[in-house]
Amino acid sequence: MLDKKVLITGIAGFAGSHLAELLLEKGGYEIYGLCRPRSKTDHIEAIKNKLHLEDADLLDSHSLYTTVARIKPDYIFHLAAQSFVPTSWVSPSVTLEVNIIGSANLFEAVRQVGIDPVIQIACSSEEYGLVHPDEIPIKETNPLRPQSPYAVSKVAMDYLGYQYFCSYNMRIIRTRGFNHTGPRRGETFVTSNFAKQVALIERGKQEAVIKVGNLDAERDWTDVRDMVRGYLLAVEKCDPGEEYNVCSGRAVKIRDMLDMLLSYSKVKVDIREDASRMRPSDVPILIGENKKFVDKTGWKPEIPFEKTMEDLLNYWRERV
Ligand code: GDD
Repeated sequence: MLDKKVLITGIAGFAGSHLAELLLEKGGYEIYGLCRPRSKTDHIEAIKNKLHLEDADLLDSHSLYTTVARIKPDYIFHLAAQSFVPTSWVSPSVTLEVNIIGSANLFEAVRQVGIDPVIQIACSSEEYGLVHPDEIPIKETNPLRPQSPYAVSKVAMDYLGYQYFCSYNMRIIRTRGFNHTGPRRGETFVTSNFAKQVALIERGKQEAVIKVGNLDAERDWTDVRDMVRGYLLAVEKCDPGEEYNVCSGRAVKIRDMLDMLLSYSKVKVDIREDASRMRPSDVPILIGENKKFVDKTGWKPEIPFEKTMEDLLNYWRERV
């Protein structure tokens, strides 16, 4: 049987690199990845020679069209995005442009080439935004009350996916990923940021003070390796046009996540609130219900959060 052709947008990123590794491990896939010219490729350095990297940009509809036309993928995983929530307050237009216009360009490229791939789009639990206590755990039917330009951009991408399914019968599957972390998580995100600070303090490269933002928020974390396994199951088993929460169903307070990290280390630290890490509006709690996705795919998270955080700390210990 011929290998399935897979196109991953954001292949050099956090989730993209883990997904590429998973597909290589499974075998039977010819993997193409969009990678903007000059973007960093450290995460895929070890597997680069087994991938086809394509110099194309989501915001350049011409390069996107010619790339999609040449590859004619069977599966597309749309993971590229401006994904850091605070950046979206600093640069709202860039966030909206990359996440919304970039997605529209991708859908249009597929439509105009006239192919019929299954397309997974990485939507986000941030779309739910402000969630009331009686709405926990959050179901896919919950109202969306986005709290940041980033969240608005993901709502728009999510609904664009729905609209392209309705208008053109495109096989778009909307996974609403809750927080995910693990090795290679960007250092601005809270789990990675705190793990890196602990590693720096252990090495004597930072004073024994951990800078923090809002420690009262709660997030539902899944290991990135479980998350990308979910993305693959999504294209294989889910229904086009539908949205699915991908989450563990269990929340951890940011403060408890920090305590967990510190329990893996011998350092004694002070914790200091850093005003610049506070957001104009933060989502207080996200706990998802994953029943719809689990019933459809049989997926379940396998890597315990404790192991994820230990792996992340070790990742930083090797790099600071
Ligand atoms: N980044 C950061 N840095 N966050 C902090 C800090 C800090 O020093 N201290 C506390 N926090 C809190 C944030 O206020 C937020 O409530 C929580 O930690 C998680 O922050 P992030 O790790 O930056 O992730 P996020 O929840 O805003 O967004 C992530 O998850 C979404 C899915 O829910 C990103 O991965 C998004 O791209 C993704 O869509």
